[in-house]
Amino acid sequence: MSKPKIGIIIGSTRKGRLADTVLEWIEGLAGERADLGFVRVDLRDYPLPLYDEGIAPIYQPAANAVASRLSATMEALDGYIFLVAEYNHAPTGALKNAIDHLFPELGRKPASFVGYGGVGGARAVEQLRLILIELRVAPLRDAVHVGLAELKGVQDGKGFSDYEYLTASAHAMLEELAWWTHVLSDARRGPGQ
Ligand SMILES: Cc1cc2nc3c(=O)[nH]c(=O)nc-3n(C[C@H](O)[C@H](O)[C@H](O)COP(=O)(O)O)c2cc1C
Repeated sequence: MSKPKIGIIIGSTRKGRLADTVLEWIEGLAGERADLGFVRVDLRDYPLPLYDEGIAPIYQPAANAVASRLSATMEALDGYIFLVAEYNHAPTGALKNAIDHLFPELGRKPASFVGYGGVGGARAVEQLRLILIELRVAPLRDAVHVGLAELKGVQDGKGFSDYEYLTASAHAMLEELAWWTHVLSDARRGPGQ
């Protein structure tokens, strides 16, 4: 059987975003795992309108063609790592808008988080956990929080590997995500499903 596949969802779409710096680091660590595959899901590649569908996705898939494409991408994945920029103590509007276009594709799959910002994106990650529960996602406790001090350090030439606690928390997050991904993938394909 092929390896379960995890989508790394890039929630910031703005010009000059810091997301790419964090993304490259987490992709490097994720790539060390032999038991999972990883793909980028960059919301820049899914230029959705502000949600304006007539019927909510819990009842009917969104009709918009970009939303259908995003839906197919998310459906094919077994779990998610959300790369969470914090805007006004919340996930980005782009990410919330994308989530509003989805529903069944995400259900019964695990999600972990890499937050970044003033307090490591912690407030945005907490909000996102609550949002995802409504879509029947299993949001995990283990997450990575990259603070502004570390982001500035990296911009000034340090490596993420200079911050051992970040690397340790990333490995712990990936380990927990792997466990849940395997358990839930088997359960979704199991008897009665
Ligand atoms: C509209 C906006 C609101 C922001 N609000 C917060 C905030 O509430 N807390 C925080 O820690 N950082 C906040 N920031 C700073 C972001 O954490 C920082 O700009 C980060 O680089 C955003 O990620 P991105 O560059 O990938 O978009 C905000 C930035 C923007 C653009």
